[in-house]
Amino acid sequence: MKNCLICQTNIDVFMDFGQQPIANGFVTNEQFNDEYFFHMQTAFCPKCTMVQLIEQPDREKMFHENYAFFSSTSNYMVKHFAAFVDDMTARQNLGENSFAVEIGCNDGILSQNFVKAGVPHLGVEPSKNVAEIARQKGINVTTEFFDKALAEATSEEYKKADAIFSANVMCHIPYMHSVFEGIKILLDENGIFAFEDPYLGDIIQKTSFDQIYDEHVFFFSAHSVSYLANMHGLELFDIAPQITHGGSMRYYITHKDAKPLSQNVSKQLEFEKSLGLHEGKTFTAFNAKIDKIKSDLIALLQKLHNEGKKVVAYGATSKSTTTANYFGITPQLIEFVSDTTPIKQGKYTPGMHIPVVSQETFAASKPDYVLLFAWNHAKEIMENEAAFMKSCGAKWIMYIPKVEIIEV
Ligand code: SAH
Ligand code: TMP
Ligand code: ZN
Repeated sequence: MKNCLICQTNIDVFMDFGQQPIANGFVTNEQFNDEYFFHMQTAFCPKCTMVQLIEQPDREKMFHENYAFFSSTSNYMVKHFAAFVDDMTARQNLGENSFAVEIGCNDGILSQNFVKAGVPHLGVEPSKNVAEIARQKGINVTTEFFDKALAEATSEEYKKADAIFSANVMCHIPYMHSVFEGIKILLDENGIFAFEDPYLGDIIQKTSFDQIYDEHVFFFSAHSVSYLANMHGLELFDIAPQITHGGSMRYYITHKDAKPLSQNVSKQLEFEKSLGLHEGKTFTAFNAKIDKIKSDLIALLQKLHNEGKKVVAYGATSKSTTTANYFGITPQLIEFVSDTTPIKQGKYTPGMHIPVVSQETFAASKPDYVLLFAWNHAKEIMENEAAFMKSCGAKWIMYIPKVEIIEV
């Protein structure tokens, strides 16, 4: 029995993924024998409804000077984050007298828009390699983990923030109370804290189980975020669904009663009830669907292997670490994974040790089937690769929400 990280209630495991490696921990040959594994299990809290990991590796094992995820690898995401800044600029009238903070700015994909618009800002990014790229774009970055102490120091050194942004970071942080205490301190009395993360409603509806990996300790819903905000004298006053990362939700938070409450929140809470996000049995059913995807995909890959087909994968995503390790996708089934991120190339995927190659190597190969690990970027990738796939008669294999072969 474990206690909920948010409300301390006893929580029960609903899914056991067994031993899993660091999702972004790409390894060299020499590192095969001393790879780190942890026991990955997810639980549902019947009181505050937060879905969470039972155990998470130490943060320094995941976020460091060799962090392998570079946000700017997707052109679509570049546009998405420019639009996020436009949205908050309109809401908060951001300009040269404002102060904006971004938690987890990575290579500056979002914060570069503050530089362009001349908005005084601070990016908080503990992974030194990606933080350095952000600095080269002229962004003011501190290489630290955001928490209450950092929020206090920031509000003293700078001033209270009119806007605090965060994308795909909040769900990574187990010490959420320290973060929300920090937000309470750093946020101006009329400020907005807007953050977005993969949405539990989409995960359940699409069976996108691969959002579950070491870095993602929380799977938020409007209900659980609202509960958490209330615990800190803050309020979830608006929300906006996003199509990114296979379905995300943006949460807008302010000091209690500082902004009018949007009907979007009450509507979403109703919708979440209809999905059963407040009931443990929903997650038991989710489990069964994951096992169906697992048996269908392994049967397909095994069949193609027996037929002597050339099967490769596209996108060495953190999500695919869960898929490969939980399903048992070996280098016998998948010859290599193509990825545009230089730090991943020439290395092997965490746990299953499938070689990672460049997009140029992929383009020089003649695959029969390509398993799309980066399924959340399907539109962008399928458009970019359409001519190549046609030229060699290759087909895509998708596995979210179900196993499917897509002819090009
Ligand atoms: N915002 C980017 C990056 C998401 S990846 C995007 O959406 O593409 C998650 C990032 O959060 C990593 O760069 C990691 O180093 C950073 N991070 C992890 N814990 C953090 C913390 N406590 N404070 C600030 N950033 C953190
Ligand atoms: P993500 O799903 O966490 O955003 O990771 C996407 C991964 O896929 C990242 O390693 C970069 C890679 N990628 C490509 O190799 N080609 C592409 O066209 C895109 C969009 C991503
Ligand atoms: Zn709880």
